[in-house]
Formats: sequence, C-alpha cells, structure tokens
Amino acid sequence: MTRATPVGVAVVGGGRWGPNLMRNIAQIPQARLLMIAEPDPRAADACARRFPHARVVPSLADVLSNDAIEAVVLATPTITHAPLLRECLIANRHVLVEKPLADSLPAAREVAALAAERRLVAMVGHTFLYNASIRFVAEYLTAGGVGDIQYLTLTRTNLGPIRVDVNAAWDLCSHDIAIASFLLGARAHAVSAIGASWLNPSVEDVCFASLQFPDGILAHVHGSWLSPKKVRETVVVGSKGMVIVDDLDPVQPVSIFDSTVADREASPAWLASQGQVRIRVNPGSALSPVLDLVEPLAVQCQHFIDAIVKGTPVATDFSFGLSVVAALDGIDRSMRAGGATMTVDSEAH
Ligand SMILES: NC(=O)c1ccc[n+]([C@@H]2O[C@H](COP(=O)([O-])OP(=O)(O)OC[C@H]3O[C@@H](n4cnc5c(N)ncnc54)[C@H](O)[C@@H]3O)[C@@H](O)[C@H]2O)c1
Repeated sequence: MTRATPVGVAVVGGGRWGPNLMRNIAQIPQARLLMIAEPDPRAADACARRFPHARVVPSLADVLSNDAIEAVVLATPTITHAPLLRECLIANRHVLVEKPLADSLPAAREVAALAAERRLVAMVGHTFLYNASIRFVAEYLTAGGVGDIQYLTLTRTNLGPIRVDVNAAWDLCSHDIAIASFLLGARAHAVSAIGASWLNPSVEDVCFASLQFPDGILAHVHGSWLSPKKVRETVVVGSKGMVIVDDLDPVQPVSIFDSTVADREASPAWLASQGQVRIRVNPGSALSPVLDLVEPLAVQCQHFIDAIVKGTPVATDFSFGLSVVAALDGIDRSMRAGGATMTVDSEAH
C-alpha cells in the first residue's frame, strides 16, 4: 500500500512539547503539517510565527471539520487525551497521542477498544522506544548479552516541569515502565509503590515503584520533578553482564560491563555449614558501542507516517499504551494503600 500524496497532519497542543512534534512532522517528506490547534492566544501566536505554512486554529473541532486532515497528533495535557482521542477516532482520523494514553485505566480501555474497532493507525508517543540507545540495548538483551536478566533500575528526576493534571508517576514513570516492558518483552504483573505530594494536594511529586515481571525479574522505577539533579538512567543487571543507559550523555549513552559475580571461592567451614558460599566480584571491563543517535522524536513521527502510508505495524500501539496505563493504575492504588502490593490489571496485557 503506497500513495503519491503526502499525509495531511494537524498537531493539537502548542505548549512545551507540541512544537517539537510540529518541527519533526514538518520535516517528513510524506507528510504536510497543515494545521495547528491551540486555544491559548500566546502559544498560538508563537506557533504561527514558527510554522507559517500551517493554519493555526483554536480547537480540535476546527481541525476535524477540514477534510484535508487525515492524521491528528495530540500534545495536550494528559487529562484531555481520552476525550480528544474519542473525537478523532469517531471522525475517522489516524492518531498519535503523547504518553500516557489516558489519565485513568477505564478511559484508556475505552479509547483502546474504540481504536481496535476502527481501521485506523492509533499510536502512543512512548518516545524512548524510538531511542537508538534503548533499541540497541533491547537487541543486546535479546541476543543474551547479559545472560539471564535479574533486575532493572530506572531513574528519571529533575527540578520540574511540575504538572497538576497527573502525578510524577503518570508523567515520568510512564516512560520507564514503557522502557522496562520493551527491554524485557513482557508486562509487569504486580507493583508496590510509595510517593508523596508537597506542592499540590493529591498530586505526587515523587514516586518510588517496584514492579514484578515474569521469571522473577524485578524493576525499580524512581520518578520525581522535585530533585536538584537531572537523571535519566536505565541500569540492567544480568547473570553475565550489566548495562547502563545514560540518556543525558550525548556521545556515549550506552555502557556495557562484562562484570560478573560468578567466581565461587572455597568457603570456610563455618560458612559451608550454613549452606553459604563466598563469591568473588569480577568488575570486568566496560565498552561503549558507537550508535547512530538520531532524534528519537523524528523516528517516532516517521514511524507514525510510515504506518499510515505503508501500513507498517505500530510498535507503541494502543494495546501497548494500555498496558503502561494498567501499571500506572497499580502504582496509584499501591501509593494510596501505603505501598501494598497490587496486581496489575491483566485484561490490559
Ligand atoms: N514524550 C515525551 O518525552 C514528552 C515530553 C514532554 C511532554 N510530553 C507529553 O506531551 C503532552 C503535553 O505536554 P506539555 O509539556 O507540552 O504540556 P503544556 O501544558 O506545556 O502544553 C499543553 C498545551 O495544550 C493546550 N491545550 C489544552 N487543552 C487543549 C485542547 N482541548 N485543545 C487544544 N489544545 C489544548 C494548552 O493550551 C497548552 O498550550 C503531555 O501529554 C505530556 O505527557 C511528552
């Protein structure tokens, strides 16, 4: 399925993130950024100046009344995702919605069901799955690079941006749940989490979540917009090696360590009597692969347009987005129950 005419695209939401999507869509030869919807006059003016070839309108309704628009990209606050998606899907438009898919599990389930009914491309912008470092590590793990994966730690902290519509888990940990699920090729089945809100009532500024994956693999996710240090780090520990992805390192974001702890020494009798062995640590050496570091958002936007033009499958479809929301729902329930372990909704798997 190929076509000669470019895809007419509108981007809805011209706040902090939306212009990045506009810039990337505008650079794709098989797409045309025809419209931008933004209700705030100052943000709308800024978009109009930056993208003079696009028509700037105040609402999604203006976009959907234009037959030239085949695809809509939503970069609006998370609480607006489900209602705006519903409008787009009912109006038969392909959709790319920023993460997370929706602000609640019932809403995510509903839009995922609606998208499944329609023969439309429906994608969630889980950007890190289009990141060259994360993709490299996924292939490395699949090839058995670290042996049996034991656990992951994922950290995403900074001072701001502070959101009011969703908490730090939905805003920040949504990235890391997506990364962990992608790297492991599996969905978390249970979660326990604690968090706290200091800035706005009932909106957690920090979240510490522990997720359980199949085969006893654990992941710990720490998200905060109230930290003096910007960190975006993924650590994978396996039986034969370890990997660190530092997304803030522009040159060598991936480090692979052949560190192991497998050298067992002869144990003294008192230890052996308790069934214990002494284990020597082998720090090993580190290697940083050379990667072609293309802007992940460019890859994400191209993936969306390719799915429309060529019919290629979407890596982060609504079913994947729904599974991330299901884990976030478990995190919220656990945080409100003081850290009790919660089962992640399995219908969303
Ligand atoms: N993938 C990533 O790395 C990444 C990074 C940042 C933000 N995001 C996501 O992008 C989305 C937007 O985040 P942001 O930081 O740009 O937020 P923002 O608040 O800065 O901007 C949102 C914009 O949407 C507009 N808006 C609100 N309701 C609207 C409606 N009904 N129709 C049209 N426009 C509307 C607002 O006026 C505002 O300008 C969020 O879902 C967020 O999670 C993703």
